[in-house]
Amino acid sequence: MTLHDIRVSRLGSGCEALLAAMHAEAFEAGEVWDEASFGSLLSIRGTEAIVAMVEGQPAGFLLLRTIADESEILTLAVRPNVRRLGIGACLVRESMKDYSVFLEVSVLNKGALRLYKRCGFSEVGCRSSYYADGSDALVLLFKP
Ligand SMILES: CC(C)(COP(=O)(O)OP(=O)(O)OC[C@H]1O[C@@H](n2cnc3c(N)ncnc32)[C@H](O)[C@@H]1OP(=O)(O)O)[C@@H](O)C(=O)NCCC(=O)NCCS
Repeated sequence: MTLHDIRVSRLGSGCEALLAAMHAEAFEAGEVWDEASFGSLLSIRGTEAIVAMVEGQPAGFLLLRTIADESEILTLAVRPNVRRLGIGACLVRESMKDYSVFLEVSVLNKGALRLYKRCGFSEVGCRSSYYADGSDALVLLFKP
């Protein structure tokens, strides 16, 4: 499989079941967002899902919220069987096309941190004990 097989599209309300299913595969129990949560996020103006399809199958997604000229990555998930193929980076780069982008990521999530830094994000802050497990969140920013 190569990057040429990856297609990304932007979706709004209506794809919440698909997003919830992929989120459940990617995250630990307790961190999973359900269909209703995605439905309510997607109903907010400026929020959209960027979905990656590989060989016609959904492979991952990124949820992006844009207000004025700044976007926030709310979550990012790639299905376990298609990781380390560049899908995460492809989704993140798609989110960086138009505006500044920021996000929060756990200091413990070394793989995601590496991914964001390789895409050009820099650390601009830290939120102490931000997550339920007590870990800190790093705030990362990309400015075009
Ligand atoms: C983090 C995640 C989205 C990465 O998706 P992916 O499609 O595997 O990422 P990519 O293949 O685009 O990786 C690009 C680069 O990021 C880094 N990277 C990604 N995952 C990594 C890992 N587990 N360990 C170390 N580096 C990693 C590597 O530098 C990688 O390049 P390489 O494969 O050439 O070494 C995926 O592992 C995932 O869904 N994890 C669970 C949910 C999660 O943590 N989401 C992020 C919340 S902020």
